[in-house]
Amino acid sequence: MYSQKDQRRLFQLSKSLLGKQTIPNKLEAVAEVQDLHYVIKYHEWRYYIQNDPVFSDYDYDHLFKRLEALEAEYPDLISSDSPTQRVSPDLTSDFPSAEHLTPMLSLANSYNAEDLQDFDESIKRVLGLEKEADLEYVVEPKFDGGTIALVYENDLLTRGATRGNGKKGEEMTNNARVIHSIPLKAEFSKWGLQKVELRGEVLIKISNFDKVNAAREKNGESIFANARNAATGGLRMKNPKEVEKRKLEAFIYQLGYAIDENGRDVLGKFQSHHGSIEALGQVGFKIPKEGYDRKLCKNIKEAADFCNYWQEHRDEYPYEIDGMVVKVNDLSLQEEAGYTSHHPRWAIAFKFKAKQATTKLLNVEYQVGKIGSITPVAKLEPVQLAGVTVSNVSLHNEDFISSKDLRIGDTVLVERAGDVIPYIVKAMEDLRDGSEDPIEFPKNCPINKTEEIELIRVEGEAAWRCPTCTCGAQDMQRLIFHVSKSGMDIDGFGKAYVEKFQEMGWLKNLADVYRLDYEAISKLEGFGTRSATKLEAAINQAKKNPIKKVLQSLTVHHLGKRASEILSGEIKHVLDLQDWDLERLTSIKDIGPVLAQNVIDYFSDQKNIALLKEMESLGVNLSQTDEDKKAEPIEGGPFSGKTILFTGSLQKMSRNEAKKIALMNGAKVLSAISSKLNILVVGEKAGSKLKKAQDLGTVEILSEEEFLGLLES
Ligand code: IVH
Repeated sequence: MYSQKDQRRLFQLSKSLLGKQTIPNKLEAVAEVQDLHYVIKYHEWRYYIQNDPVFSDYDYDHLFKRLEALEAEYPDLISSDSPTQRVSPDLTSDFPSAEHLTPMLSLANSYNAEDLQDFDESIKRVLGLEKEADLEYVVEPKFDGGTIALVYENDLLTRGATRGNGKKGEEMTNNARVIHSIPLKAEFSKWGLQKVELRGEVLIKISNFDKVNAAREKNGESIFANARNAATGGLRMKNPKEVEKRKLEAFIYQLGYAIDENGRDVLGKFQSHHGSIEALGQVGFKIPKEGYDRKLCKNIKEAADFCNYWQEHRDEYPYEIDGMVVKVNDLSLQEEAGYTSHHPRWAIAFKFKAKQATTKLLNVEYQVGKIGSITPVAKLEPVQLAGVTVSNVSLHNEDFISSKDLRIGDTVLVERAGDVIPYIVKAMEDLRDGSEDPIEFPKNCPINKTEEIELIRVEGEAAWRCPTCTCGAQDMQRLIFHVSKSGMDIDGFGKAYVEKFQEMGWLKNLADVYRLDYEAISKLEGFGTRSATKLEAAINQAKKNPIKKVLQSLTVHHLGKRASEILSGEIKHVLDLQDWDLERLTSIKDIGPVLAQNVIDYFSDQKNIALLKEMESLGVNLSQTDEDKKAEPIEGGPFSGKTILFTGSLQKMSRNEAKKIALMNGAKVLSAISSKLNILVVGEKAGSKLKKAQDLGTVEILSEEEFLGLLES
């Protein structure tokens, strides 16, 4: 339908249309309306037909609203084929069509508390209420799945249908019948209801979605990009047995039609939306729970607060939602407010800020870490994601880049979910024009501009490392880490200070931190006596740190917070570690051979010993304190005492980060599947390890999300 060239052009055009704000003159409006028709139709095709959108809902809505605004200003530009003139997209399949008992409309959108305030004011105007009056609303999730309409006659489910174009949908009664949360019989007759139509959404619980995908992968079937696609696709399957495999669930959010045995309209029976939803719950339907994901609010302020709450906690919700819906609670007021041709005036969607967006991958830069690991960082055309501008995202390592086949110049899909750092989901291959350049991971240290130092990659590790830093870049990173919160936690001492003092030639190694000349610092531009004195006090304070902080701040590979806590409980003085051998170190619970060897290497290097002695002579405490003795492994955490293994490519963190997180939370990380293994965390494209673990039958298998979810809990 669209060639790749068309798609690229339409994509660029869409981006350029996003920025427009002011209403142009008629002549310009004609051209812009035409452009908007082109791009909106294209995005609808990607979304509804291809099930693979290239634009976020948020951006799409902006284009749609812009078209509505231009059409409102110049009504003669409204043509019958305008995207605004239909309720919903074309039907695309060959199920028998089913006419809805009342049209299924869309919802108008809002994005923030002010929009809701405007909505509240306009509806009070329509209802002739005072501006200050409190109007009750129900707020509930805006489910992101497949819409369904269910008809019950004489208490029996007689028809299930998709939404279709709002007037007619596709009949899928047999598929509805295999969804366990849809009762086949519900006692509407006890309220005198003879025939009802309910509206709801079919969804897959996110945790089940991962299982469905894992099972499909095992059977060699293609995996679904997201839960919504799996759910909407599931509704339209020809074979109800296949539908059952998808573990679909249905939430009901509206009583759309109700008549009694005399054919009289009794939709107002339950007086309020709250009342009708509760009634549906009573006869066995799955409904949002009052006080959890649904709330009866006494005014719009409370409604906005509840919307904002779920915007912040969206990732804790077990199903995909893309916003909340705010509905006037009183059914007689709903009726009075009425409908436009597209949507009810008594309800509005509160759309969450987009978690995903597309943008351009402009370039890749490299950063060196404190132990020399080279991290590629993608430079992106800045893009808004869930309310934050994102322009840099880590690409973790070479394998991450090659597994996603990322190229410079690619349009990439970026996601930021909750507190998880933004990451690249995929490159939009369809939008390539051949000008994209492959990303070639450097062979030599990309930071050192004067010498050619070949990078090395230790077996079993994902990162390339610069083994012998001569340019000072690693020293700088070590110093930054040493003074940071995760190191000696020297208040106010950050990257900028390290850079400045290094530039002055005052900071060459860690010991230099403790012999700074505060007099000289106070004379530096932008410093003064006050900040110099503050810094001195902070450094003096840090000198008294327990040795677990000292150990952690030395930047020994793998010697992080937890391992430092454990080690500090075993020694009286940091330099005791000079005498420790592999056997003694690995005899400590939770200290593995790799970390043990790193500790041995560090403490057998005389330069390091001299450095530590120097630090001690400058007043840094190297003897065990009470705080060190108290250190206990994190008990009672989700992974304490468990063994864990990671397989497949992880999307939200590197393998090393994942291992570190697991270690810090009390897990022991294994390297192979064995009967000792408790938990397997499965990333994308997991292979034989997953199968082996499944065959064992004793291993708990977690998706990456579930792993992170457990940490949060
Ligand atoms: S009420 C006349 N409530 O959002 C009432 N819709 O744009 C209109 N949706 O595809 C719908 N969750 O399926 C309503 N709690 C909810 C909803 C909801 C999801 C979907 C609905 C439709 C779209 C409306």
